[in-house]
Amino acid sequence: MAVPTTQTALVQETYAQPLSLKNIPVPEAIPGSALIKVIVAPVLSYAREVYNGTRKYPYTAPIVPGTSCIGRVAALGRDSTSLQVGQLVYADATIHSRDNPDDMILHGLVAAASPGSKKLMDEVWRDGKYGEYTLVPLESVFALDEQRLKELGYAENDLATITKYLCLGGLRDINLQAGETIVVAPATGAFGGAAVACSVAIGATVIAMGRNLDSLAQLEATFPRVKTVKITESVDDDVAALQAAAGGRAIDAVFEISPPQAAKSTHIKSCILALKRGGRMSLMGGIQEDYPIPLRQVMRKNLTLTGTWMYNREQVLALIKMVETGILKIGKQGGIRELTIFEFAEWEKAFDYASDNAGWATTVLIRP
Ligand SMILES: NC(=O)c1ccc[n+]([C@@H]2O[C@H](COP(=O)([O-])OP(=O)(O)OC[C@H]3O[C@@H](n4cnc5c(N)ncnc54)[C@H](OP(=O)(O)O)[C@@H]3O)[C@@H](O)[C@H]2O)c1
Repeated sequence: MAVPTTQTALVQETYAQPLSLKNIPVPEAIPGSALIKVIVAPVLSYAREVYNGTRKYPYTAPIVPGTSCIGRVAALGRDSTSLQVGQLVYADATIHSRDNPDDMILHGLVAAASPGSKKLMDEVWRDGKYGEYTLVPLESVFALDEQRLKELGYAENDLATITKYLCLGGLRDINLQAGETIVVAPATGAFGGAAVACSVAIGATVIAMGRNLDSLAQLEATFPRVKTVKITESVDDDVAALQAAAGGRAIDAVFEISPPQAAKSTHIKSCILALKRGGRMSLMGGIQEDYPIPLRQVMRKNLTLTGTWMYNREQVLALIKMVETGILKIGKQGGIRELTIFEFAEWEKAFDYASDNAGWATTVLIRP
């Protein structure tokens, strides 16, 4: 694949200021990296809040935003032994330091709170996926079985929804098993809906908890073994409703994926109280303030609360296997009703649309 020396990319020159299309150099595929030609990339529902500074995510500008993408390998570092130029790949957001995996960034989005994480972002892996080309560490690139995915009826846009389903990391960290009952709360957002899909694919029964009855009804209509519970903000009522929805079975697990604006919602407490003795809870949400945990119940019921930031390589490979075997349906086949695509030049519209249409059933994508 012929690689040009320059490319058009969306650049934010100054933190929290508007993006613009710029001509910038195409990075060199140094050892340990792959240069990916971007086909299509997802837009987070909260991209506008991140890049206008509302969320105060620590990252360094100038930066090319964009966390993950579907693309083709354009060039490979000389130490690559498996990937092929031209191959269809999923390029992931999560990048760890090789000599200290505790230092971590999400590509084009945020650096963890350590000097090493900031260095990792600043020195090499600053620029994310909203360019024609993006440089990614080899371990963040995942080969896709293009033929098989075509047979399954997937287009590249569907594959770009893989990112949503990586909530699988939290589900695997609490070892969700077939036959178990799990509460997903809130279930109506991008990652919440995907967690419902993954839990059902694993073989669990799901209680989808949320505020929006229409969105909950959509989940119940899309997936088997899904019951729904409305968050009423009365802890006693919500615990009773969760237990009633479980239909006499114990609630084995909870998957929590709240956004920052749910900091005062009582659903996390209700879920903890509804768990069985020995239950497990995955905390993947983004609430930024401290939250009151009913510690006595956690202690008395031997509960395990497990935090998960993103996921590991094995979990991404497991997700791709679930998709390629057909066990997990993603994109439109998986119940996402609307895939709306914008071009890089329309980034502002894309960010607004993603924010205004946040939720499980809509995915916003952007492409060069
Ligand atoms: N741990 C990780 O690795 C990781 C990865 C990605 C994202 N996250 C975090 O996960 C959060 C959710 O992401 P997302 O993409 O799913 O967001 P999203 O699509 O915007 O969905 C937000 C969800 O939260 C619900 N919600 C909003 N305000 C609420 C409130 N006051 N009380 C209760 N529920 C409320 C929404 O319900 P309605 O339908 O009722 O509006 C919806 O279900 C993000 O904000 C991010 O911080 C964490």
